[in-house]
Amino acid sequence: MISLKNTSPASRIIVIDANHLTDSQLLSANIQQNLKNKVAKDLKVLTSIDENGNEIIIAPFFTNQEKDEHTNTEAVRSLGNLVFKLVSDAQLKEISIQSELSKELTYAFVEGLALSNYKFDKYKSKATTLIDKIFVSTENFTEDAVKTLNRIIKSVFYARNIVNEPLSTLKAKEISESAKAIAEETGIHYKELGIDAIRSLKMGGVLGVNQGSELDPTFTVLEWKPENAINKKPIVLVGKGVVYDTGGYSIKVGDGMMAMKCDMGGAAAVFGSTYLAALEKLPQHIITLVPAVENRINEKAFVPGDVLTISDGTTVEVLNTDAEGRLILADALVYAQQFDPEFVFDFATLTGAAMRAIGTGGAAYMGTASDEIKKIALEAANSTHERIAELPLWDDYAEQLKSEVADLSNLGGPLAGASTAGKFLQHFTKYPWLHFDIAAPAFLSSASSYRPVGGTGSGVRFMLEFFKSYIAHVKK
Ligand code: BES
Ligand code: ZN
Ligand code: ZN
Repeated sequence: MISLKNTSPASRIIVIDANHLTDSQLLSANIQQNLKNKVAKDLKVLTSIDENGNEIIIAPFFTNQEKDEHTNTEAVRSLGNLVFKLVSDAQLKEISIQSELSKELTYAFVEGLALSNYKFDKYKSKATTLIDKIFVSTENFTEDAVKTLNRIIKSVFYARNIVNEPLSTLKAKEISESAKAIAEETGIHYKELGIDAIRSLKMGGVLGVNQGSELDPTFTVLEWKPENAINKKPIVLVGKGVVYDTGGYSIKVGDGMMAMKCDMGGAAAVFGSTYLAALEKLPQHIITLVPAVENRINEKAFVPGDVLTISDGTTVEVLNTDAEGRLILADALVYAQQFDPEFVFDFATLTGAAMRAIGTGGAAYMGTASDEIKKIALEAANSTHERIAELPLWDDYAEQLKSEVADLSNLGGPLAGASTAGKFLQHFTKYPWLHFDIAAPAFLSSASSYRPVGGTGSGVRFMLEFFKSYIAHVKK
């Protein structure tokens, strides 16, 4: 928990502007002199003893004039992560931050530190020591900034937690219930379409993929509609909710299945960002859709060669049961149409190809939304460092999705797998739309700065920034 406080008995963290070390008001001339030779241009945290004989942690930050603003902001978040490591090694439970950086950079520092203060340890007999209280001096911060940061942390950790929860504890029913809990907390309207509704809507993608499961699929609908909403048509978010992806009969081999509890990372991203939008009381009408299934095997499971009928009547020949995400997303994208959306964003851990194309440092995206929306998205991605890179969605890719027996096949060729998956989705969109393939950034096999091993909550901070800039853009 982050709060405002000027003085406190907690351990002191002093963030200084290393470009102007000798101007520092927080460090004595003595300490400044001592530090002079020790601060280097690379990120590093130092310790010293203050006038009262207490240990202080000093985080010197060099603004790199040659780099852009976003690069510097991200470097400060990483500095926050370095301080976190030192503080957590020392098992300090309460820290107090004083900073000589700008408000924006201080915010990023605290953000990086607080995002690091996470561990999915509920199944460990011995819990990890984390920081209980982070105090920030009032000169750098406002009450509003503290509130927003706490909400960001809460919703990002919510998203990380549901990704990290294994199949045994998070199935289609549970993911919907987790959404119900955030809805009840915030005043979001929650609805779950159960199996009967899914059947009567003829969601053949959702039903087909889930056939190999003992349990029913779910389809969750969240609606955040504040009275002061500035958009007449809703923004619709769609998230892939494959609670586990074995690949089905096109089973994953080797280590391919290891991380597949993460295959509802899209659902986590859209639930998390709707949660955050509601906590922040954004004047934005948002509808969030999550189809949730298990892709696994029993004697009823779908098999390659099967033909499924999506809810709009499109027939799909399943050439690979491991390309299941697009099948359930198709039903959700069709369902979105009834809301006459302003635009639709979908988030999905959709393809290994997106991961190979750009790595874990960002998401691949593509779609038909206006250049204006793409521009706002790109800026939001850079400023939160939840970066996105556009891949093509050329008409040529549709050729690869032709089937001999059905309207579409669910498998493209050996190349451009992220784009052919996107092309498949596009078939079901009759509105401006963007698709974010977060297969890589949603789940990490080792920690990277303030992004922990496992679920990262990827997409949540990005969407908050997107919503805020979009609101500012509309009001203009
Ligand atoms: N869930 C996977 C994609 C994935 C891979 C997510 C790695 C996270 C990490 C998806 O359902 C899948 O299996 N995609 C296949 C598609 C292929 C069969 C066309 C893939 O990418 O190999
Ligand atoms: Zn798959
Ligand atoms: Zn999948």
